[in-house]
Amino acid sequence: MLDEWVKELEAPGYKGRKDFSDREMAMVVFSFLFASQDAMSSGLIYGFQHLADNPDILAKIREERYRVRAGDVDKPITLEMLEQMPYLKAFVKESMRVKPPVTMVPYRTTKAFPISNDYTVPANSMVIPSFYNSLHDPSVFPEHDKLIPDRWLDPNSSANTNPRNYLVFGSGPHKCVGIEYATMNIGLVLATASVLMDWEHHITTRKRSGPNHCNFVP
Ligand code: HEM
Repeated sequence: MLDEWVKELEAPGYKGRKDFSDREMAMVVFSFLFASQDAMSSGLIYGFQHLADNPDILAKIREERYRVRAGDVDKPITLEMLEQMPYLKAFVKESMRVKPPVTMVPYRTTKAFPISNDYTVPANSMVIPSFYNSLHDPSVFPEHDKLIPDRWLDPNSSANTNPRNYLVFGSGPHKCVGIEYATMNIGLVLATASVLMDWEHHITTRKRSGPNHCNFVP
């Protein structure tokens, strides 16, 4: 990433800013690493966990995968093939809704911002909305604790008609830049795994309960 950035700065036609300090560049690379690696690992692990706990959903993903590859699991995957896997896409979206890899992000208000009818946050305050509550709002996601990929397949479902509730990747000008890559990558890893192996979810004794911890054991 650094190499590409420096090449871009040195390109003859480049007219943008050039005076980046080493520290500034290091911090940008670090942001990418931190923003991407942590969330991707959680998203993938939750995906594996959800599929182990829901064999019927895993079976549908497997079936879709075999169908798109016409039975040949070694056939290289293309973007066109991915487009033909709507169930996989719906599963990845739903898996991250049920267990969002990032549960909150701090924002700073640049001007006074009304968050309810009776309270307006003053400018220059820190606001930390909880993504989890929005992603588990029962009026938008009926049976909100349940993993239901089909809710994303109906264009008229309340999940699809309330896109602002889907805060998995944040919102506004700093919304995640890795959305497409992340969802594609998680989907591809899980779908490939689904035709190469079986796996089980073993709940450890160190599991904690609570809204964002494993819900599978009382
Ligand atoms: C499942 C995977 C991921 C999740 C859940 C996720 C989630 C998020 C969230 C919630 C934010 C904050 C958005 C906001 O401020 O409103 C964010 C920002 C960001 N993400 Fe991701 N992310 C993921 C993967 C990635 C990947 C793979 C990359 C890079 C290739 C990436 C790069 C970034 C960057 C650079 C920002 C900061 C954007 C900015 O401040 O303008 N993320 N991400």
